[in-house]
Amino acid sequence: MTCTIVVGGQWGDEGKGKIISYICEKDKPSVVARGGVGPNAGHSVEVDGKKYGIRMVPTGFPNRSSKLAVGAGVLVDVAVLLKEVEMLKEFNIKDRVIIDYNCGVIEEKHKEMDKSNSHLSKEIGSTGTGCGPANVDRAMRTLRLAKEFDALKPFLGDVSDLVNEALENGENVLIEGTQGTLLSLYYGSYPYVTSNDTSASAFASDVGIGPTKVDEVIVVFKSYPTRVGEGPFPTEMDVEEAEKLGLVEYGTVTGRRRRIGYFDYDLAKKVCRLNGATAIAVTCLDKYDEECYGLTNYDDITEKGLAFIKEIEEKVGVPVKIISTGPELHQTIDIR
Ligand code: GTP
Ligand code: IMP
Ligand code: MG
Repeated sequence: MTCTIVVGGQWGDEGKGKIISYICEKDKPSVVARGGVGPNAGHSVEVDGKKYGIRMVPTGFPNRSSKLAVGAGVLVDVAVLLKEVEMLKEFNIKDRVIIDYNCGVIEEKHKEMDKSNSHLSKEIGSTGTGCGPANVDRAMRTLRLAKEFDALKPFLGDVSDLVNEALENGENVLIEGTQGTLLSLYYGSYPYVTSNDTSASAFASDVGIGPTKVDEVIVVFKSYPTRVGEGPFPTEMDVEEAEKLGLVEYGTVTGRRRRIGYFDYDLAKKVCRLNGATAIAVTCLDKYDEECYGLTNYDDITEKGLAFIKEIEEKVGVPVKIISTGPELHQTIDIR
């Protein structure tokens, strides 16, 4: 039995969706439970050449034996959830999705405020998905909860009980973090952050398990980090440099162009410490060295690629155990 948390190590969009769905296919956890803020996150998963952008349902959906839980700490957008359940019907997810009774629900007024408030929409560069204003109402204790919405009735359950019982029965559980540690309300570059903590401890709390239950914390880093929205980015490169390197990315939720930078070893070390990392997953090694594209064996990694992996391990002090070499699930090197 293993309880694993997957956490973003930068400003989100590290490729957690790909790593989580890969781990689900491989380890077949009985429960994948989503923590994090809410539908401000967009995870991309590519299965058999088809790309899915997912904002509410846990990205472990391709593994049909996993229950797909959303913890009480996560905000729910009912319309987004229902749309995803419909979109993913070929994966038979309707009976596998469990939304905690106590998830807060984002309403139209929250989205309107997120978009019309210039501090949020312009200075911070929020995603406009209503998460910040909904968390304001949660703190005020006026936010309505999932159990008050008829449309959510078929999905409601107690996620904390579900996860703890799975662990007591000796089953594998995967906790899916969203955003990235550097967007944490407490540990990120405040005020240019999201509206909740986004570290491993927060995700454990979001799904209702205690810290002693967690076995593995895998922190995901992208070879060239990205950031959307405002805020400091110490290793950012200019647009021309990024284009020369063939690095152009757009956000899954907002479609905004992502700012791009070089790998920041000092920040990575701090992030691993904050999360109590037991392992690192590196994504987009193929963007660092295109000859690494699609590799599945550690021994085939090029000299350039291997030097990068070794440098991360030396400077950060945590072993790199998963390496992603392309967006498809099978384009992965796993030495766990
Ligand atoms: P957030 O929760 O929003 O932070 O999302 P995320 O971490 O799941 O990342 P997101 O899906 O938003 O962005 C990552 C992008 O990189 C997606 O388009 C993925 O398909 C792609 N991707 C993931 N791993 C790899 C890889 O190893 N190589 C390449 N070329 N693309 C990858
Ligand atoms: P909010 O979470 O929508 O309030 O946005 C606050 C900041 O966090 C903005 O800079 C967003 O771009 C950023 N952000 C929030 N969620 C994500 C995510 O999942 N990926 C990348 N950036 C995010
Ligand atoms: Mg994303």
